[in-house]
Amino acid sequence: MGLVYFKRYRMELDLSEPLFAAPRLPLGYELVPWSEGLCREHASAKFQSFHCELDANVFPCLGRRDGCVRLMREISRRTSFVPEATWLLRYRPPESRPQAVGTVQGLQVEGWGAIQNLGVVQPHRGHGLGTILMARAAAGFRRAGLTKMHLEVTTDNTAAVRLYRRMGFRQARTVFKAAEVSGA
Ligand SMILES: CC(C)(COP(=O)(O)OP(=O)(O)OC[C@H]1O[C@@H](n2cnc3c(N)ncnc32)[C@H](O)[C@@H]1OP(=O)(O)O)[C@@H](O)C(=O)NCCC(=O)NCCS
Repeated sequence: MGLVYFKRYRMELDLSEPLFAAPRLPLGYELVPWSEGLCREHASAKFQSFHCELDANVFPCLGRRDGCVRLMREISRRTSFVPEATWLLRYRPPESRPQAVGTVQGLQVEGWGAIQNLGVVQPHRGHGLGTILMARAAAGFRRAGLTKMHLEVTTDNTAAVRLYRRMGFRQARTVFKAAEVSGA
């Protein structure tokens, strides 16, 4: 194991301005507002979205099913948790049970809406679902009375950085996150 520093951007969005446009939810998908009974479904969507991705190196808990369950419990029990900004995305395949395919969670940190993990499971990407989840989170922060939101994204995660820029997020500063990585 070795210590690696991952370069990340803090990106910010002004919620008092008109929000970015999100596409319509495609057929077969459903957005579900937060309730405690959804913790495992959020964790499942989180694990499936992140376990093969860069951020599983930055936050090793994202690479493990049990790690995602613990993280989801920990986020949702914080006093700073913002349920209005926390959304689950389900897909119902024809004649089959609904599956959790996307998640976003929100906290309130020092007057900011803070996005935790936005994730969409690989086969469902590129249809606007990440944008839709983020639009719901932003609207939820607004309902909770917040006028600004932020997130952190690993700079090498170019697809996510591009997406956030398109939504109107601006890069506020660069931060470094240390993580133990095997083989480093
Ligand atoms: C980042 C992430 C959430 C984006 O999810 P997504 O559902 O693919 O997002 P969208 O579909 O809204 O946008 C992705 C791209 O599809 C395009 N798109 C959106 N709707 C589309 C449609 N109907 N047809 C074609 N393309 C479309 C978007 O314009 C965007 O294009 P770009 O790659 O040029 O930026 C997803 O890639 C993910 O889960 N990654 C792994 C986890 C992660 O890194 N999360 C971010 C942590 S900060």
